[in-house]
Amino acid sequence: MKPFLPQSGSAADAALPRRAFLAGTASIAAAALVRPSLVFGADAAAKVDLGLIGCGGRGSWIARLFAASGLYRLVACADYFQDRVDEVGNAHGIEAARRYTGLAGYRRLLESKLDAVVIETPPYFHPEQAAAAVEADKHVYIAKPIAVDVPGCLAIAEAGRKATEKKRVFLVDFQTRANEHYREALRRVRKGDLGDLILAEAHYPWTGGGRGGPPATAEAQLRHWYYVLALSGDFIVEQSIHSLDVATWILNADPLRAVGMGGQKLRPPGSIYDHFAVNYTFPGNVPLAFTCIQAVPEVKDEIRARVFGSEGVIDTDYFGNVFIRGNEPYKGGSTGNLYTTGTEVNIREFHQAVIEGHCDNPTVAPSVRSNLTAILGREAAYQRRELTWDELLRQSRQLEPDLRGLKA
Ligand SMILES: NC(=O)c1ccc[n+]([C@@H]2O[C@H](COP(=O)([O-])OP(=O)(O)OC[C@H]3O[C@@H](n4cnc5c(N)ncnc54)[C@H](O)[C@@H]3O)[C@@H](O)[C@H]2O)c1
Repeated sequence: MKPFLPQSGSAADAALPRRAFLAGTASIAAAALVRPSLVFGADAAAKVDLGLIGCGGRGSWIARLFAASGLYRLVACADYFQDRVDEVGNAHGIEAARRYTGLAGYRRLLESKLDAVVIETPPYFHPEQAAAAVEADKHVYIAKPIAVDVPGCLAIAEAGRKATEKKRVFLVDFQTRANEHYREALRRVRKGDLGDLILAEAHYPWTGGGRGGPPATAEAQLRHWYYVLALSGDFIVEQSIHSLDVATWILNADPLRAVGMGGQKLRPPGSIYDHFAVNYTFPGNVPLAFTCIQAVPEVKDEIRARVFGSEGVIDTDYFGNVFIRGNEPYKGGSTGNLYTTGTEVNIREFHQAVIEGHCDNPTVAPSVRSNLTAILGREAAYQRRELTWDELLRQSRQLEPDLRGLKA
């Protein structure tokens, strides 16, 4: 797939590319004279003051869940667009002065008095926004995927490390990792109940996703970022990561290499792919066969990861059941409405970690691993060849959207 180059909106280069944003984080740290008001060991029910960055579909949805938990006060919000901050602001009684817009709106939010931020923007912006939040001493709750490229993943790894150093919580919101059946099944896998791991398979067929292409203007791209490679990372990274994250959680290793295929048979040229088939090799010559496809009518949605070992098989589906069959079976159970319940658990555990000062931030490293695994699959498919993990890290290809014409 050719890299997408959008037509620039205006000649005025008002955009702040990633490096400029990152440079700006130092000034945020200096300006963040207001320390978080919460101290560790506060009352277990103490409310955490929250700022929401990204007030679109998931942002406004999750804001309601944070509010419904009774553990947070939503005191500020930021989005590129005024209508988006107003929608969330009006729903949660956020004063007009604390609704921030434009590309740098999140930086003004970080300078204001809050304890934590929830980042729900397009994935391209996650590394710079999360790094800036940690610099400003905020706790961070962030949507997956953490990044669209290798430098972004490494920036998140570093932000997570810094958060731990600064005694700040950094949580990546994967719902599967918050589910009791997944957690128990994985505990048993680590205990050795599958024996030697032999073969893994994972897939994510989804009827949704649409058949669109990237919009022409920079503003329209921020509203419909999914089809813009540099903003979403393509759907293997943006969406299918849910299934790769479970697969790498079970396999507990970085892949060594991948061969990939994929393309656009449903989406127009210039858009993201609509299907991928990637064969990964993990240490011990364990293969992972992975496929994902979108936008096909009436497909049964599955986010599946299944791993066969010498003593049994673990089978997991985000929309179904989690169990182990074999010599040490685990009955497991249905994941239920994991989309909501997984997020609710993450919201509660984030609060608990903030109050109790648990800053080991265990979701960061596995999220970096699964994100890089998804990027390895994407790049192997784009380059139509075998690509090793080491080569991927050495190439360290950076994706940059054209943000010209956008307001700062
Ligand atoms: N199950 C899940 O965990 C799950 C489900 C859906 C979405 N997500 C993730 O949530 C994030 C948001 O997705 P969404 O579906 O809400 O998208 P969305 O387009 O509905 O919302 C994104 C919002 O971010 C705003 N925005 C864009 N660039 C910005 C910038 N530079 N600064 C501030 N605001 C900016 C947009 O105006 C928009 O309102 C993505 O990372 C996505 O992958 C996760």
